[in-house]
Amino acid sequence: MVTRLRSGERWATLTLTGGGLALVLGLATAVSSCAPAESPAAGQALDTAELEAYRTTVEGVFMTDRGGTTSGYAACVMCHTWQTSVRFSLETPDSDAGWSAEQSRRNFDVVSQLINTADPEASRLLRKPLGAGAGGLTHTGGTYWTSPEEPEYVALLEWIESLPDDRFIPAAEPEVDFEFFSACVQRVFADPREGQLRCSNCHSGGLAGFAPAPAGGDAWSEEEAQLAYRSLSRLITPGDPEQSRFLLKPLHPDGGGAYTHNGPRRWQSRDDPEWQMLAGWVRGERTGASCS
Ligand code: HEC
Ligand code: HEC
Repeated sequence: MVTRLRSGERWATLTLTGGGLALVLGLATAVSSCAPAESPAAGQALDTAELEAYRTTVEGVFMTDRGGTTSGYAACVMCHTWQTSVRFSLETPDSDAGWSAEQSRRNFDVVSQLINTADPEASRLLRKPLGAGAGGLTHTGGTYWTSPEEPEYVALLEWIESLPDDRFIPAAEPEVDFEFFSACVQRVFADPREGQLRCSNCHSGGLAGFAPAPAGGDAWSEEEAQLAYRSLSRLITPGDPEQSRFLLKPLHPDGGGAYTHNGPRRWQSRDDPEWQMLAGWVRGERTGASCS
């Protein structure tokens, strides 16, 4: 079954030399899952030259100081170690100089799940930091490249292209059904559990505005639903409920949820039928307008 690493709340001081970037991250966050779900099959390990190329090209980008601590300006590594409780969790660098070779190998196991050697431009590693106008995906971490001509994008693309075509191909992502969202998921946002606030109380606008209050009475218009669906999509990893922030934040930490959420814990454990229903939806198994 699922093994969990309980590390409790952590405070990390992360100092990156070179750019004079020093940040005390006072985020009490979770390492919510340890080993990546699919570790690469034997035979996919990197040889020494490949490891070096990866360390220089890819980890160089992760470490680059961009002069700030907020979305679009922070170094990738500032958010992508233990802070985000998502699949893209790098090791906490061993020293100010960065990751050891052993750590880089483990990082690579994570990064290899975010690339697609059969269709390099479809790689999540490239699409997340790319601006929406240039075909990117929405990203809490912000936009780092406004176009695919930017040198970092090109360097990462060429690195992915340099790997054999059949090396890392992500499983096809299931379709997360919109009709089920508007019929069954939105209802969850509006219908609080005993003594709790509605999701809509706090998530009606902004980046995590997936639960807008309906403008016209108690039902959402098609347009409102579409907007909410797009906003929630960022918090879902299709096919993988365990890695979907949407299903981690309101889940009790004892039941495998995130350590922090400035809102209620709606589900005590994953056995909650409602959690199961939503997990089935994220896996692409629940479609249509029937919620039971
Ligand atoms: C301010 C914090 C922050 C920074 C800085 C940041 N990210 Fe992110 N990133 C997140 C969060 C939170 C998520 C998960 C939610 C989402 O996808 O928006 C995420 C998701 C991702 C994903 C998707 C992971 C998956 O499992 O599919 C990729 C890829 C990614 N980021 C790449 C990057 C890269 C590359 C950089 C640096 C150029 C970067 N991020 C900088 C916060 C950040
Ligand atoms: C009392 C206000 C409040 C309520 C009610 C609330 N939340 Fe939150 N939620 C927050 C705040 C504030 C954050 C951002 C800080 C954090 O991550 O805890 C957040 C973060 C989140 C995130 C992560 C967003 C991101 O961009 O990464 C998710 C997912 C989430 N909440 C889901 C829910 C769901 C689902 C409900 C209803 C069951 C809910 N929340 C109810 C206040 C609330």
